[in-house]
This record gives sequence, C-alpha cells and structure tokens, in this order.
Amino acid sequence: MRFADPVQAPGGYRRHLKIALLVVAWSLVVAAAAEFLSIAYQKYTHLDAGSYGMFWTRREWLWTHIGGGLLTIVLGALQFLPRIRRGYPRLHRWMGRSFLSGMLLACVGAVGLILTSPAPAAIRIAFAATALAWLVTAFLGYRAIRRGQVGTHRRWMIGCYLVTLAPVTFRAMIRIPGMMEIASPMVMIPTLLWLSWAVPLLVYGMGVALLERTRSRLAPRGRRVDVARAMGVDSA
Ligand code: HEM
Repeated sequence: MRFADPVQAPGGYRRHLKIALLVVAWSLVVAAAAEFLSIAYQKYTHLDAGSYGMFWTRREWLWTHIGGGLLTIVLGALQFLPRIRRGYPRLHRWMGRSFLSGMLLACVGAVGLILTSPAPAAIRIAFAATALAWLVTAFLGYRAIRRGQVGTHRRWMIGCYLVTLAPVTFRAMIRIPGMMEIASPMVMIPTLLWLSWAVPLLVYGMGVALLERTRSRLAPRGRRVDVARAMGVDSA
C-alpha cells in the first residue's frame, strides 16, 4: 500500500498548513495595521493643538504623510489576496500604481516632517533611512515587473510592504515589556526605528535564501516546496 507524498499531494496537509499560516499571518498584520490607523484616526480627527501636540504647527505635512501612508497600508494588504491578484490583473496593476502614488505622497509628507522636526539628528536620520528603504524596495519591485521578472517583483514588493509596516512594527516593539528600559529614549527610539524595517527585511531575505537552497536540493527529485511560491521564490 502506498501513501500519498505529503509534499507533492495537491490537497496534502502541507498545502493546508501553508494556507492556514498565511491566513493567520495576514490577519495579524491587518489587525495590527487597523489598530495603528484607528489610534491615528482618534488622535488627529480632533482638530486642536492638544491632540496634535508637536504636529500642530506642521499639520499639513502630517496630513499629507498620513493620507499617503493610509493608502499604502490598505492597498498593500489587498495586493496579497490571491483572488484579486490572479482573478483581476488589471485591478492589481491599478492598485499597484495607486500604492506607489500613495507612497510618494507619504514620502513628501515625511520629508516635510523630518525637515521641521525638533527631534535629535539620530531620530531624523533613522526616519530618513526608513524613507530611503521604502523608495528603494518599491523602485526595485517596479523595475522588476517592467522587465517581466514576476518572482523578483513579488519578492521586492513583499519587502516594500514590510517597510510600509515599519510604524506598526515600531509601535509593537516599544510595547514589549522592558524594551524602553534597556537604554534612554534618545538611544532606544532611533535604534527601534532602524530595527522596525531592517529586522523584518533581514528575516524575510534569510527565509527566501533558505527556501531557495531547499528547493534547489529537492528539485532534482521532482519535489516542490509549496511555501516557496508564497514567499516569491518560485520564479526569476
Ligand atoms: C515607511 C516609511 C515611513 C516614514 C519614513 C515615516 C516617517 C514619519 C515621520 C518623519 C514622522 C514624524 C515624526 C516626528 O516628527 O517625530 C511620522 C509620523 C507619523 N507617521 Fe509615518 N512614516 C512612514 C510610514 C508611515 C505609514 C505607512 C503610516 C500610515 C498611515 C504612517 C503614519 C504616521 C503617523 C500617524 C504619524 C504621527 C505620529 C504618531 O501619531 O504616531 N507613517 N512618520
């Protein structure tokens, strides 16, 4: 008697596990992003100096930044839904273009905020580095799709979305008990700003490299690693 190969079986448990893990990861990201946005909404819909704090005198930059940022968080999450990506490719393209426009708008706002910020240089440099990482990952993802490199496009756009989520990750990190007691806020804030996008990018990059190695080892035996596709390592 032969049992179905769980790696190859199309409806095998690996496939179900992969889908379940992706759904859980996606839902966690959406919940964290929704919480971040709802806090910002509650804070900045009260048009008074008390609610805006240090942003009151530069609220136009903040609105520009949040408007663009909101677009990127929402559209970016939708771009990962396979039903939209595969079933409505034109919609996927238009949402992609709107994502990039939102990102550019958010970056214009970020530059305005950085230039007018009373924060120490270390914090402003950390924000500027985040903006640069955002622009570079988006540019590489865009260039890849213009060259027809679908797998490379997917990898860079996943990276770009990880950078998009930097403020959400930053908020999650400062809530870790004891985190802000490691050093003074003047050290912890810029450090965590860097880590909020560098760590997710590094972990993702290492995951992709590991899956590529596993796949190339299994490939001669005709096996496939399902999760590789979801991480954007199925093609060039
Ligand atoms: C990933 C690239 C991003 C960069 C470089 C960036 C940069 C900045 C900067 C420089 C500030 C002002 C900080 C200060 O003056 O102390 C700021 C604040 C803010 N940003 Fe971003 N940001 C990014 C992404 C986003 C996204 C995607 C959103 C989503 C809407 C967002 C929402 C906010 C909000 C709500 C604030 C006000 C501070 C707060 O209430 O927490 N940012 N950001």
